[in-house]
Amino acid sequence: QHFWLHGPRSDRPVEYDAAAGIWGVHGYPEAHEILGDPETFSSDTFRVIPKPLMPDAEEFSLAGFITQIDPPEHGKLRKLVSSAFTRKVVADLEPRIAAVTHELLDAARDRGRLELVADLAYPLPVIVIAELLGVPGGDRALFKQWADALFQRDAKISLTEPAEQREEDIDAMKSWRDMSAYLADHAAERRRNPRADLLTRLVEAELDGERLPAGQVVNFAILLLLAGHVTTTMLLGNTVLCLDAFPEQQDRVRAHRAAVPALIEESLRYLTPFAAISRTTTRAAELGGETIPADQLLMVWLGAANRDPRQFPEPALFDPGRDPNPHLAFGRGIHFCLGAPLARLEGRIALNILLDRFDRLRTDPDDPVAFIPTPTMTGVRRLPLR
Ligand code: HEM
Repeated sequence: QHFWLHGPRSDRPVEYDAAAGIWGVHGYPEAHEILGDPETFSSDTFRVIPKPLMPDAEEFSLAGFITQIDPPEHGKLRKLVSSAFTRKVVADLEPRIAAVTHELLDAARDRGRLELVADLAYPLPVIVIAELLGVPGGDRALFKQWADALFQRDAKISLTEPAEQREEDIDAMKSWRDMSAYLADHAAERRRNPRADLLTRLVEAELDGERLPAGQVVNFAILLLLAGHVTTTMLLGNTVLCLDAFPEQQDRVRAHRAAVPALIEESLRYLTPFAAISRTTTRAAELGGETIPADQLLMVWLGAANRDPRQFPEPALFDPGRDPNPHLAFGRGIHFCLGAPLARLEGRIALNILLDRFDRLRTDPDDPVAFIPTPTMTGVRRLPLR
């Protein structure tokens, strides 16, 4: 099943790609160290790579984009957004997640077919995150268009070749701009008319008497809307794919539902949705036997680290019995995924309902599975089931 592992496969934990001018990190201990040391390994990639060009030469702003900022600003912003996006807010979603899952599966039954991604794995997390934020779930065709323009392209990252402005990069930037405008309108509306939704909570969140600047509310909402569904879609599709490929695990989990959360964790390790994240060095660092100078760009391949035999014995074996399972699919340290409790909750509920409603989850041999082509993403794009 090795072809499922996207991204580079290398026996060297750290490797310099001279053609692209980028350091690839594939080892688990090395990735672990990087994520635990934000002083040396900064998340602010625009320190070393040029900002993308916006259409009409507008300034591209990622001000306060939480995944891109370092301490001490990061801690302050993280505290603020966490006060709006709490564990309780997430836990309260449980009945709604179950209801939406049933509605989507009923609709698929009435149509007489089940293509897991289009019928469930895509719409479920979008509907949930849109309702949570307080934007119309009915606008989800729009969200999908934006997310596809931003993610489903083969974004070429190179520091040695000048950035050519390709058609699809311009589309991506236009999507970004449209998304900002859409969320800015909704946020402005909440300032005038507060409601019981996350957007209002973000607008009203306060730390030491300070509120989030309007641009930061918008950037955080963009991140939630994008991160909130693309990755969870991959998690759901990948987990069902694994249940099909490893029928003995499907039997086991059917007989023992308490094992569903461990199955989800192993799916995250085995097919890591966000296969790579980036960092830059603020100073020279020794890592995996290499000396990396300051101001270098690193691609940290979480998917490769999650299959490092030094950490996971028999890494190509799908084994939900791994305990502990310290995979890095949600990152680690100060930027650890803020949405992990929501992704895990959606995964657990949807999977249990699928197991309840179908005697057997299996792919359709006459209708092939398709993967997302982007190398930094590991996920099915189409998963027709029998
Ligand atoms: C951060 C993966 C679902 C919101 C991250 C990071 C990873 C990740 C690897 C760390 C990025 C870095 O260190 O550079 C995933 C995966 C998901 C998932 C695999 C699903 C299976 C979600 C959901 C939400 C979300 C559902 C929100 C609704 C965030 C946010 C951050 C983040 C806000 C930034 C945290 C920070 O920088 O402090 N995610 N994510 N994620 N994720 Fe997720």
